[in-house]
Amino acid sequence: MEQLISSRTVIPLVRLVARKLLRTNPAAVQHCVYATTQADTPIPPSSSTAKHGAPETPVFPSRMPDVAPGTSSSEGPRMTTAGILFPKDTGEKIADLKKEEKQGKDKRQEQRQQTERNTKCDTASSAGTMKAWQISKFNDVGGMKLEQDVKVPSLSDPFDMLVEIHAASVNPFDIERTRGYGENLIQYIRTASKFSWMPQTVFTRKEQPFPLTLGRDFSGVVVDAGSLVHGVKTGDEIFGVIGPHRQGTFAQYATTSTWCVAKKPATISHAEAASLPYIACTAWSVLKLIENLPAMSEKRVLVIGGSGGVGSFSIQYLKALRNVHVTAVCGTAAIDMVASLGADDIIDYQASDVESELQRREKFDFIFQATRGDYDFSKKYLKGMLKSFFVTLNYPLLKNIDERGSVAGLAKSAADYSIEYAKGLSQGYHTVWAFFAPNGPFLQDVAKRVEKGQIRPIVDKVYPFEELPAAFQQVEAGDTKGKVIIEMKK
Ligand SMILES: NC(=O)c1ccc[n+]([C@@H]2O[C@H](COP(=O)([O-])OP(=O)(O)OC[C@H]3O[C@@H](n4cnc5c(N)ncnc54)[C@H](OP(=O)(O)O)[C@@H]3O)[C@@H](O)[C@H]2O)c1
Repeated sequence: MEQLISSRTVIPLVRLVARKLLRTNPAAVQHCVYATTQADTPIPPSSSTAKHGAPETPVFPSRMPDVAPGTSSSEGPRMTTAGILFPKDTGEKIADLKKEEKQGKDKRQEQRQQTERNTKCDTASSAGTMKAWQISKFNDVGGMKLEQDVKVPSLSDPFDMLVEIHAASVNPFDIERTRGYGENLIQYIRTASKFSWMPQTVFTRKEQPFPLTLGRDFSGVVVDAGSLVHGVKTGDEIFGVIGPHRQGTFAQYATTSTWCVAKKPATISHAEAASLPYIACTAWSVLKLIENLPAMSEKRVLVIGGSGGVGSFSIQYLKALRNVHVTAVCGTAAIDMVASLGADDIIDYQASDVESELQRREKFDFIFQATRGDYDFSKKYLKGMLKSFFVTLNYPLLKNIDERGSVAGLAKSAADYSIEYAKGLSQGYHTVWAFFAPNGPFLQDVAKRVEKGQIRPIVDKVYPFEELPAAFQQVEAGDTKGKVIIEMKK
């Protein structure tokens, strides 16, 4: 009450005094304003005051220096003084200060989280180095060496993430890469990924890729993520693939892009999850083509190489669709495994003549050749009428570019494909050369199907990280049912 009375009577009085004072000595008022808001801060002299004594027009700071709410409360009478000078603004000012403090808190929290992320990244690369299997020239599988102090890769753009690799799979492509297969094309992709000037990308070579880490897919944990990474964050368990221009996954860490990954299926281990990304990203265009084929009745599909990585994945995916009948071609030892994937009919290419077996069966809408070997004869067993497809993973595109360079190699491949396509059309079917392409959204779909039990990972054998050469030997010998996995972290 006493305070109320005093403020009611005193404020108008002091306002009057202040107005008079403002007219006669603005510097004194300015001093008063500073004193009430910046109790412990020295008062900077107004430049005009310093030079000329009292200026003709008052010079106030355009924005009051920040002060935390309550810091001036211990100064008692200042409340009154502040009220005199800015009676209506005081509430707003406190609200502003509170807002600024909250913003400051948010910013500090964001900074703390960023530091945490960086710390995790630093922990990941605390020594700055990692173990990685590398080759120093294109030679053979025997040229791989387990290096102990390879630099941990860094994020090169905001879509990148750094992944701690727990497991990776060995693909036939990795074996071929030790001999330089595909290097010409990959060299161009590598150069283009650095946004180099296009003519240089197309017409010149070449930057040495060594030391080179192989390995194209993985399951692991995100340890650092660029600002434009979406769908996953630091600490998430993910599985995915790596673009061909990057250092590979037979290492403790690797970087990849946000569109190459998906959350790992929760129901399976890292070793099992690592068996899926490369084969899924190879098969997806073929499987989507079959899925979207219009059909009045059952679609009949022949999968050649049904026991391999791509084949075993494809059979399961197709059997999860409605109205698809799958005949698989595989070796004797794989028959039980292929039957367990849901294949409706199996042809043993080792115990029987595949062509005679095909003659005995109804014709197919779709043939998917997911293995090496010459299966051109099978095209006769397509229904034709321009509604059938022969899709293969084996064609000479990379070989042509390796042998002739990009321009001549692409031209030769275009000619080869045109001839094959025209031949196929004349017999009533379409020819498709399918290829691996990173596809995070499809991997997310695969993860859901795994969790629902529609697809199970087929792992032939898991090797410790140190035994990668033995794993390469097994894949090279073609002695696999499903996938061969390398485990970096249990
Ligand atoms: N173009 C691309 O982008 C691309 C991408 C990925 C893969 N590929 C190619 O696609 C093929 C399959 O890849 P993958 O990862 O599934 O290979 P994979 O796991 O090694 O499987 C190949 C399977 O083919 C079977 N096979 C071998 N000889 C056969 C024959 N004469 N007839 C029928 N089956 C036979 C083997 O099964 P059995 O044990 O039953 O004999 C083996 O399991 C490979 O040739 C690979 O190079 C191409």
